Amino acid sequence: MPHLRIRLAAASDLDSLVELEFSAFKLDRISKRSFRDLLASSAATILVAELKGSMIGSAVLLANARTSVIRLYSIAVAEGARGKGVATKLLEDALRRAAHAGAVRFRLETRFDNLDAQHLFEKAGLKPFDNVDGYYEDGARAIRYERILSNDTVS
Ligand SMILES: CC(C)(COP(=O)(O)OP(=O)(O)OC[C@H]1O[C@@H](n2cnc3c(N)ncnc32)[C@H](O)[C@@H]1OP(=O)(O)O)[C@@H](O)C(=O)NCCC(=O)NCCS
Repeated sequence: MPHLRIRLAAASDLDSLVELEFSAFKLDRISKRSFRDLLASSAATILVAELKGSMIGSAVLLANARTSVIRLYSIAVAEGARGKGVATKLLEDALRRAAHAGAVRFRLETRFDNLDAQHLFEKAGLKPFDNVDGYYEDGARAIRYERILSNDTVS
């Protein structure tokens, strides 16, 4: 997608991040309060996909220095912008940043019935390694994905 820009979120992105999150998820949404905390947290990195000044995607990464794991906590693309590689770009950027930060493992959870997301993650080299029953608000099972990061991820 030409003109697509991936950048770090700023405090002024709060309302747009919440709007995107609430339009993309029916359950298990990150609240405005949580986004405010995440924007201020040194453990969180929030990426924004922007097209001509409008936010069309976001990704939230959480670092755990103790375990060298970086977790993709959320990824969302605005409905009208899906299927055009925006999430793929956000994910590539997230993997690169995680490898640069020295993380060894990149992990995430997704709903068992979210086939778009599973396809996206498998295309990016993540592999399912565990299931967690009752993980989501409505009791749905989560599939946990992982990719071991290496120098290749950085290039
Ligand atoms: C999952 C999600 C982030 C994918 O974003 P996206 O920008 O559409 O993804 P991409 O365009 O990079 O496509 C990646 C793959 O997802 C699939 N896909 C996702 N949405 C699609 C759509 N609306 N139309 C067509 N393909 C779609 C395709 O299989 C695609 O693979 P392909 O390129 O081999 O065809 C997006 O659908 C979304 O925001 N969903 C709601 C929130 C969500 O479920 N987040 C993930 C939680 S873990």
